[in-house]
This record gives sequence, structure tokens and C-alpha cells, in this order.
Amino acid sequence: MSRRNRIVVLISGNGTNLQALIDAVCSGEIPDTEIVSVISNNPEALGLERADKAGIPGRVPKGQGDSEEYKEELLRLLKDANPDLIVLAGYIKILGKEIIDAFSGRIVNIHPSLLPKHGGKGCYGVRVHQKVLECGDKVTGATFHYVVEGIDEGEIILQYSLEVKEDDTAESLARRVLALEHRLMVEGVQKVLAEKRGGCKKWEDC
Ligand code: GRF
Repeated sequence: MSRRNRIVVLISGNGTNLQALIDAVCSGEIPDTEIVSVISNNPEALGLERADKAGIPGRVPKGQGDSEEYKEELLRLLKDANPDLIVLAGYIKILGKEIIDAFSGRIVNIHPSLLPKHGGKGCYGVRVHQKVLECGDKVTGATFHYVVEGIDEGEIILQYSLEVKEDDTAESLARRVLALEHRLMVEGVQKVLAEKRGGCKKWEDC
């Protein structure tokens, strides 16, 4: 009997990476898979509207994203969802140890730089691209990796790179890297799910 992969996506903002995943699941590019829930720390996140349009339940845990109340509810929601994979797609809060331990090896994140460069606490959003320019990097990109307690330190699953142009600004880099992330997000999830099935593309082939 075939069983579909269950994915939960955590977001904080626009959710364009979430949209890339929704599209890939709907088109069958990511086969036998269901996005069972989208969780956001931010009730205003545009990504929640994207989830709603796709018929995916959206949830916002109570409390501030760093409070115990929030973390407890997040853990409960994640346990209820019984996910094979938790995808952090532009989620800006730090997951506590309890959540990371509870879902060890099942949480992945996308980061807009070539880790280990330009990662860690406070290194997110446009700041990442500012650092790339400040350091005079000739190449940048995006990384799809497992989540461990150390911020942006988990095992790298897949990376895509692009050349930094002479006239790039932090904003132009952010745009170009984001477009790369959308591809990386889909291929990273495909890769992780295939590995979880022992290399088989579909559960029924395993
Ligand atoms: C992406 O650059 C992601 O790498 C970063 O935040 C951005 C989120 O974009 N962590 P979106 O919400 O998926 O549009």
C-alpha cells in the first residue's frame, strides 16, 4: 500500500519558496507527496495566503516566536502533523533543541549563501548579500541543508551557485539568488525524499 510523504513547511514572510514547493507537488514533479500544513510565526505572512489558495491548512502558534508558549504550541502542531519532512522556507525564528531533537534528521532549511560562508546568527535576508559584496566574493549562491542546533551548521544536501557581477547590488543579488532558491528548494526536497525511501522514486518501488 503506497503512503504519501507528509511535508510541513515553516515560513515567516512572502513564501515564494513555499510556492515553488506547492507548484512542484501539484504538478507531480515531487511525486507522492502532500504538504499537510504551513506554519508561520507571522500572522501577516503572505505565504499563509498562498497556503490557503492551495487548500493547505495554515497555522500560527500563539505567543511571540521566542516564547515558551509559542515553542510548546509549535512542537504540538508538528507532532500532530506527523511529518516525514519539515521544511524551513524563509522561517526566521530559531527552532529550540526540543524540536530539533524530536525531528532529528527530518528538518531542512534553505539559506541564500554558499554555506559555510555567510551563515550563523543574524546572517539572513539582505545582510547575507551585503556581506558577499563587502567580502568581494566572485561567486555566491544558495544552500539546502539539514537543521542542527548550531545555526546554519547542518550537513549540506545541495548547493547552487551563480557569478557575482560587477554591477550587482545587495538587492539585485537577493533577486537572482531567490530565483535560484526556487529550483534548489524543489530539487533539495526531491533528493531528501528519495534518500529517505532508499533511493526509490516512489514508495511502491521500494
Ligand atoms: C529566502 O531568501 C530564504 O533563503 C531566506 O528568506 C527568503 C525567503 O523568501 N531565508 P520567501 O519567503 O520564500 O519568498
